[in-house]
Amino acid sequence: MDLVIIPAGVPRKPGMTRDDLFKINAGIVRTLCEGIVKSCPRAIVNLISNPVNSTVPIAAEVFKKAGTYDPRHLLGVNMLDVVRANTFVAEVLGIDPRQVDVPVVGGHAGVTILPLLSQVKPPSTFTPEETDTTKTIITN
Ligand SMILES: NC(=O)c1ccc[n+]([C@@H]2O[C@H](COP(=O)([O-])OP(=O)(O)OC[C@H]3O[C@@H](n4cnc5c(N)ncnc54)[C@H](O)[C@@H]3O)[C@@H](O)[C@H]2O)c1
Repeated sequence: MDLVIIPAGVPRKPGMTRDDLFKINAGIVRTLCEGIVKSCPRAIVNLISNPVNSTVPIAAEVFKKAGTYDPRHLLGVNMLDVVRANTFVAEVLGIDPRQVDVPVVGGHAGVTILPLLSQVKPPSTFTPEETDTTKTIITN
């Protein structure tokens, strides 16, 4: 394979903490990455399994241990966070979500996720309450 996309894992269910989610998905990602080392160590790897900001470092450690790590070949996908941010901002602006683009950087948890509201297209301004609500919505 030249490209491996990993969506395997479990989404967070009611009653599950982010730590619970992390333990399960970390094990799944580690096992799959050990398979990549054996079968296609040069592949570009896209990680979707959450929390992406923690599963990407796990994959990196597996590849480093095997001597196959290439930072240009390991990418985390945060489309879910982007879609949620786009949807909320579209509701606030009263326009179609397809017309909105909110870049989201950082992690997948409340303290690390960062929707770049100053970079929203179309350019818009938000109240402090709307800014806080956006962060809450995209991390739940
Ligand atoms: N990064 C993003 O933008 C984004 C978007 C959506 C979902 N997610 C994450 O993706 C993951 C999957 O979510 P979902 O809604 O698709 O769940 P899902 O339950 O619909 O699909 C998960 C898949 O993983 C498979 N799977 C489970 N354990 C496995 C294992 N050990 N080896 C191989 N495959 C295994 C299951 O058979 C299932 O097909 C979750 O961690 C979720 O949070 C991330």
